[in-house]
Amino acid sequence: MDITILGIESSCDDTSAAVLRNNVLLSNVIASQQVHVKYGGVIPELASRAHQQNIIPVIDTALKEAAVTIDDIDAIAFTRGPGLLGSLLVGVSFAKGLSLAKDIPLVEVNHLQGHILSHFIDMPDRQLPHPEFPFLCLLVSGGHTQIVRVESPEKMEIVGTTIDDAAGEAFDKCAKVMGLPYPGGPVIDKLAKEGNPSGFKFAKPHVADFNYSFSGLKTSFLYSLRDHVAEDPDFIEKNKADLCASLQHTIISILMDKLVKAAKHYKIKDIAIAGGVSANSGLRNAIEEEGRKRGWRTFLPEFKFTTDNAAMIAMAGYFRYQDNRFSTLDVAPAARSEDL
Ligand code: KG4
Ligand code: ZN
Repeated sequence: MDITILGIESSCDDTSAAVLRNNVLLSNVIASQQVHVKYGGVIPELASRAHQQNIIPVIDTALKEAAVTIDDIDAIAFTRGPGLLGSLLVGVSFAKGLSLAKDIPLVEVNHLQGHILSHFIDMPDRQLPHPEFPFLCLLVSGGHTQIVRVESPEKMEIVGTTIDDAAGEAFDKCAKVMGLPYPGGPVIDKLAKEGNPSGFKFAKPHVADFNYSFSGLKTSFLYSLRDHVAEDPDFIEKNKADLCASLQHTIISILMDKLVKAAKHYKIKDIAIAGGVSANSGLRNAIEEEGRKRGWRTFLPEFKFTTDNAAMIAMAGYFRYQDNRFSTLDVAPAARSEDL
């Protein structure tokens, strides 16, 4: 029997709704919030207000684009967390209201599991490559940097995590210091293509096991700029491409070192990446190159599934639906992973 899932995502600054039939994507609508650009980062209060304005038109458009009505929906999958509490509250409340009004079962989804399970979505006209369990997923976003050992859609173990900043945060904060717009990751990615990746050297951390740290790199970047700018006020402008290429090169090398170590340790050769930073062209190339060298099967998400989207939430919801793991109307959002 076909199962049709409506997915709702509102954990940060993108309001998104998607419709999935089994694991096939029928629609995926994303309203990105522009209000934050002028502040150089997400302002939580503005984010929740924008979600309030966006959520009905976004869901309506997702249903229309999928050519279904709300009566065709078998379950509503929504992001319960982690994320910004006020933003989550909009999606969770809307999902609960819709469930109550239309008597549709509710399925809560962990946002990070959503990113990882986006690798199981297919398009109506083509199948996408799916990893086999167990696989390793490098989850890299603005808020998280983790190596996850994925045993099944429900059983995932975080085997490495950042002890301070996330990789996306390192991109965004260093971009800000260079006067580049928010979010900095995509801008650095673009500028890096013109620059020399060994133009500058920045500190690499020494952290135990499969864990990460990015705050030392951030400080080393900042100090290096400060010293150069003291001698030449136009230093950043003149060296932007080399700075971006060198910074990106360092972040990727930090990410890859631990990923390679974990793959060896767990003897796993199906390696996936997910999350906003998995859109980074340098990281994608590095994973593929390492994969060729080590006989990995590598899984790079399509660009539309890298940043926050409801398709991945519907996909994770479909797995939970099959396991009969439904939520009740007293479900509340959880800002932190530990509370989920
Ligand atoms: O997964 P996501 O959309 O939101 C969170 O859950 O955090 O990730 C957003 C992050 C931002 O830090 C952004 O700078 C980064 O993903 N990002 C990139 C690229 N595209 C987005 N970082 C590096 N290169 C990119 N091409
Ligand atoms: Zn995310």
